[in-house]
Amino acid sequence: MQSNQMNIMQSERILLRPWRESDAETLFKYASDPDVGPRAGWPPHKSVEESLEIIRTVFHNDTTWAIVLKATDEPIGCIGYLPCDIDLPSREDEPLVGYWVAKPYWNQGICTEALQLLIAQIRESTCIRSLISSHYLDNPASGQVMLKCGFVPMGDLHPNGTPYTVDGKAVRVLRLEIS
Ligand SMILES: CC(C)(COP(=O)(O)OP(=O)(O)OC[C@H]1O[C@@H](n2cnc3c(N)ncnc32)[C@H](O)[C@@H]1OP(=O)(O)O)[C@@H](O)C(=O)NCCC(=O)NCCS
Repeated sequence: MQSNQMNIMQSERILLRPWRESDAETLFKYASDPDVGPRAGWPPHKSVEESLEIIRTVFHNDTTWAIVLKATDEPIGCIGYLPCDIDLPSREDEPLVGYWVAKPYWNQGICTEALQLLIAQIRESTCIRSLISSHYLDNPASGQVMLKCGFVPMGDLHPNGTPYTVDGKAVRVLRLEIS
């Protein structure tokens, strides 16, 4: 179900809404966890000030949402899409989807619920025809979320025909797409 209020989506358990500066402490609590950011390609947050800066910059756009648990009104994750500016073989107007959920809430279907809401919103109110995403081979939970939401595996990511590297080390990255 989608709310009438612009840029807010909701389902039974969660609300997707823009980030607020007042979320900084909660964001730090969850995004400082070393098991979260690195699996998505970003370093753990080091201070509340850094989390606030991320809210003011990285999260400050129309296509990034806090995943808020309705029962507690606490932001417990993030989801969004942006133009694909990394070295993925994507088509024009095929944005890249990203997400994370705080570790205490893993494996409860929260991210799947958030991604389903996002896909429905994109289909209802944008001209976007397809979305792309990717995950490290050793992060199968992320791939499972995409598969449950209808993404189709497109094989390994090999930018320029070479293996993907992180900090100089070759890593397998799987690419998925939904249209
Ligand atoms: C990936 C992530 C967002 C998933 O969030 P979540 O709310 O736990 O996701 P869901 O509960 O909706 O679905 C997780 C699915 O992965 C499955 N899963 C969990 N661990 C798994 C594993 N080791 N192997 C295979 N499947 C696994 C769960 O069983 C579940 O599938 P199911 O419902 O069919 O049983 C969360 O783990 C996370 O934030 N990780 C760190 C950041 C990250 O990886 N972001 C994505 C980068 S591409």
